Amino acid sequence: MGDVVGSPGRDMVQEYLPKLKTKYQPPHVTIINGENSAAGKGINEKIYKNFLEWGAQAVTMGNHTWDKQEIFNFIDDATYMVRPGNLPPNMPGRDIVYIKSNGIEIAVINLLGRTFMQPVDDPFRKFDELYKEAKKRTNIIFVDFHAEATSEKQALGWYTDGKVSAVIGTHTHVQTSDNRILPNQTAYISDVGMTGPYDEILGMEKQAVLKKFLTGLPVRFEVPKSGRTQLSGVLIDIDATTGKASKIERIQINDDHPFFS
Ligand SMILES: [Fe+2]
Repeated sequence: MGDVVGSPGRDMVQEYLPKLKTKYQPPHVTIINGENSAAGKGINEKIYKNFLEWGAQAVTMGNHTWDKQEIFNFIDDATYMVRPGNLPPNMPGRDIVYIKSNGIEIAVINLLGRTFMQPVDDPFRKFDELYKEAKKRTNIIFVDFHAEATSEKQALGWYTDGKVSAVIGTHTHVQTSDNRILPNQTAYISDVGMTGPYDEILGMEKQAVLKKFLTGLPVRFEVPKSGRTQLSGVLIDIDATTGKASKIERIQINDDHPFFS
């Protein structure tokens, strides 16, 4: 489930995640990108725990990982939170999380892109390192690639094809329609999309974003408190033994794509 933005996004997760879990028969796991879930920037402990209560098994992060000071108080104890692996060495938190479903282990990795983003370590070399480690334990490896440039996301998809079960792009907040199974059975989408406000700009109140474009003046972006909302995600079928993906389907819930049970 893609980038959950503020309380409108959290409300959508709480309302629809249980319904989605009923609709799609188990066993399954849910992975949520939560880096925008606290007022649009960062996460706090209460929200992280809420995601787990509402049915998520892992929470991935991104460039806003450290935005809420509180993160440093709980990230080391947050067993199911994975922060970007290609940060400087010895940062708090985990760069691989292992979750279990039906006795089967799934490795979850989070990497940051470098194109049009703050400088970080090489995500491709870091992938090689984390892949070696994860592969010792399981064939099912899920990668959330939090990146701006579609080219960089496609590059990681092709680079990892056949090694991992899925490379799912996050960060740009608009769901792309290029979901596919790559030739060596890695599921791929450039961006899974955003869960949050439906009538705003990337989840932020649109008048402020418009003002920024129209005047160039510094503007404070905020998540709106009311308005229509959406949920974005993908559903992936993965072979429990080989880790190969056979299907990736887009999920969108909003007034233009209502939920059907
Ligand atoms: Fe982001």
